[in-house]
Amino acid sequence: MHQRRCIGRAVSCEDPSLMRDPTMPLLHDRLDLRGLACPNRIFMAPLTRQRASGIEGVVGQLQADHYAQRATFGLIISEATQISSEAKGYPNTPGLYSDAQIAGWKLVTDRVHAAGGRIFVQLWHVGRVSHVAYQPDGQPPVAPVAIRSNSFVVLRHDDGRRERVPASMPRALRTEEMPRLIEDFAQSVRCAKAAGFDGVEVHAANSYLINQFLSGSLNDRADEWGGSIENRMRLLLSFVDAAGEVFSPARVGVRLSPMGSVNELAAHHDDEECMRRVATELGKRKLAYLHLYHHHWGKEGWSGRFHEDLCREMRTRFDGPIVLNGYGTDVAGAQRDLDHGLGDAVAFGKLAISNPDLPARLAHGTPLAHWDDSTFYGDDARGYNDYPAAAPLP
Ligand SMILES: Cc1cc2nc3c(=O)[nH]c(=O)nc-3n(C[C@H](O)[C@H](O)[C@H](O)COP(=O)(O)O)c2cc1C
Repeated sequence: MHQRRCIGRAVSCEDPSLMRDPTMPLLHDRLDLRGLACPNRIFMAPLTRQRASGIEGVVGQLQADHYAQRATFGLIISEATQISSEAKGYPNTPGLYSDAQIAGWKLVTDRVHAAGGRIFVQLWHVGRVSHVAYQPDGQPPVAPVAIRSNSFVVLRHDDGRRERVPASMPRALRTEEMPRLIEDFAQSVRCAKAAGFDGVEVHAANSYLINQFLSGSLNDRADEWGGSIENRMRLLLSFVDAAGEVFSPARVGVRLSPMGSVNELAAHHDDEECMRRVATELGKRKLAYLHLYHHHWGKEGWSGRFHEDLCREMRTRFDGPIVLNGYGTDVAGAQRDLDHGLGDAVAFGKLAISNPDLPARLAHGTPLAHWDDSTFYGDDARGYNDYPAAAPLP
C-alpha cells in the first residue's frame, strides 16, 4: 500500500498573502492554446509509468482509467511514447507505430474525451540512451555520433527482475538514413491522429535523441545534421514540421530542458545561444506551446537569475504559450512565476501522480496527497489508479 501522506494545506491561488498582480493569470484561469480551450493552466506533465504490454508497448484499459481520472487538468501530456521500435530504451514504455498500439491509445483518448479532457501524446526517440536488448535484431542504438552515453538503462528480465546496466555503444546515423528517421516520426504522428489525440508534444529534452542532436558538446557531425547550431537544430525542426503537416502547427508542442538535463549531456559554451535560436525558429511556426523543464528550479543555493533571464528571452523569441515545469510541491512558486510573466501554464509531474483531481484541490485549498516513488514504475493499478480524488471540503 502506498503512502497517503498529505503535503499540508494546498496553496489557494486566491491567497491574499501572495500580493499578486491581479492582471496576471491564475493557475485555474482558462487558457486558449491557439484555439484549444483549456479550462485551467494546470497541465499534467509527461510521466513514464512503464505499464504498457509486450515488447512493442501496447496500452489499454489500465492507462485509459489513469488518464481519464486526470481529465480535469487543463491539458494532459501523455507519457513518452516511442515513434518506432528503434526508439525504445526502457521496459514497458508504450509505442505508437502499429495498429495494436493505435487501438490501445484510442481507448485512452476516447475515455479522456468522454470525461471532458484534452490529451497530447509525447513522442520520443531515446537515441543512444538505450541497450542492444531493446533494439531490433540486437543492433546498436542510433545516435548523432558513435559516442557512448554514461547513462544506465534498466533491463527487465522474464522473471520480472530489474537490472541497471550501462547504455550500449551506439552507432552514428548515416546521412542517407535521416529522411527515413523523419518519416518514422511523421508516421508516428499519423498514428497519433488516428488514435484520436488532440495534438503531439515533440520530446526534445532530457538528453534523448533530439537533445543529442541539439547538443554542442556531443554533435560534431560533419554533415548538415551537426556542427553549427543551424545544423544541430535541423532534426528538431524537421520533426516539428512533419508533425505540423499532419496536425496543424497549432497542435504541436515542444519540450526542451534548457536549464540542465536529467541524463548526461555535458554543458557547452553555446548552449544558451542554441536555446535562443531554437525558440526563435519554433516561434516562426506558431506552435501550440513551448514546454520548459527547469531541473534546478527551486533548488537550494540557486539564485534563479541566469535561468530566469534565459527563460524570459526564450519567451520573447517564441512569442506563444509557454508551459513551465519543475516545481515539485511548490505550487506557490509556480503561481509566482506566472505572476512574474515567465509563462502561461504549469505542468505538474509528481503531484499529478498522487492527485488525480489536482485542479479542484488547488482551487479549493484541499490538502495534497504525496506520491509513493516505489510505485512510479510497475505492472498494475497499484500506485497508478488507486490515488483517490479528495472529497470536497464541507
Ligand atoms: C516517474 C516519472 C516519469 C517521468 N517521465 C517523463 C517522460 O516520460 N517524459 C518527460 O519529458 N519527462 C518525464 N519525467 C519528468 C517530469 O515530466 C517532470 O519534468 C519532473 O517530474 C519535474 O516536474 P515535477 O516537479 O512537477 O514533478 C518523469 C518524471 C517522473 C518522476
